[in-house]
Amino acid sequence: PRDLRQLAQQHGIKIGSAVDIAALRAEADYHKTLNREFSHVTAENAMKWESVEPERGVFTWADADALVDSARRNRQQVRGHTLVWHNQLPAWLTAGVADGSIDAGELRSILRDHITTQVRRYKGKIRAWDVVNEVVQDDGTMRPSIWLTHLGPGYIADAFRWAHRADPRAKLYINDYNLEWNAPKIETTLALVKGLQAQGVPIHGAGFQGHLGIQYDYPGDWANVMRRFADLGLEVAVTELDVRMELPVTAEKLAEQAGYYSRALTDCLSVRACRELTVWGFTDRHSWVPGWFPGQGSACLFDENLAPKPAYQALLAVR
Ligand code: XIL
Repeated sequence: PRDLRQLAQQHGIKIGSAVDIAALRAEADYHKTLNREFSHVTAENAMKWESVEPERGVFTWADADALVDSARRNRQQVRGHTLVWHNQLPAWLTAGVADGSIDAGELRSILRDHITTQVRRYKGKIRAWDVVNEVVQDDGTMRPSIWLTHLGPGYIADAFRWAHRADPRAKLYINDYNLEWNAPKIETTLALVKGLQAQGVPIHGAGFQGHLGIQYDYPGDWANVMRRFADLGLEVAVTELDVRMELPVTAEKLAEQAGYYSRALTDCLSVRACRELTVWGFTDRHSWVPGWFPGQGSACLFDENLAPKPAYQALLAVR
């Protein structure tokens, strides 16, 4: 294959990237590489609640709209990220809950309106939505977010039902990190999905973020975990793949990283239900890793100058 688009097509999956909208607007080489290589896109931040409703009732859709429009022009499908999360909430919301000016009843209707408004806005234009993000903790307990604390565990079923009503054809996902390998999280998430299905809740997919690092063993059981979700009738996807390393970069580390990327693709391809593999940024010029993991970086397929790294070549070589 000549590039990731061809690779994806040959394998019958979508290969996507998270997109930094400012870079998409300002950097011609970023724009060009994104659209040459990828057949699926996710907004890195532009669809998060703090981005779309920074002041109560003041909606700022320009960046999210720009991503969706760019995707249509470039024949890319879109993953919506994300409707219900405990991070990147607008300050008016967290402050209102903290000071008691927003009570539980109001919070529930705020969440319903948020989901309905956002999903409806992009109805027919989003292939899959990350409806709930990171709702299970590493120890297998449910995350005590403002949603669980104030609305109780039923908020998850509600969120899926509201999203489904707003766009009945969108695939609705539960998404999480460490779901590649963490047993307590895997078991709780599987049980959660089964419980939702037993109540007739419209849930269609499980997303594995896939934030990996070469200082940790590759999650060797990942394909089996994917299959356990697929056995429940779900589609699965790798939604935020990146492979970080301790700096400085060396040729050995880049070779190790290439192995992680190709194993992740191989794992996805080995599971029929795995329909999409999306990387969390494609260039080290715009990656969340250095800012979030001090001393680490070089997590992407292309370097800062958009030169392909060994990991890129390794993906093209996957059969
Ligand atoms: C990250 C973005 O990449 C950063 O730019 C932002 O500052 C914080 O969020 N899991 C997720 C993503 O689901 O939304 C996060 O994205 C990375 C971890």
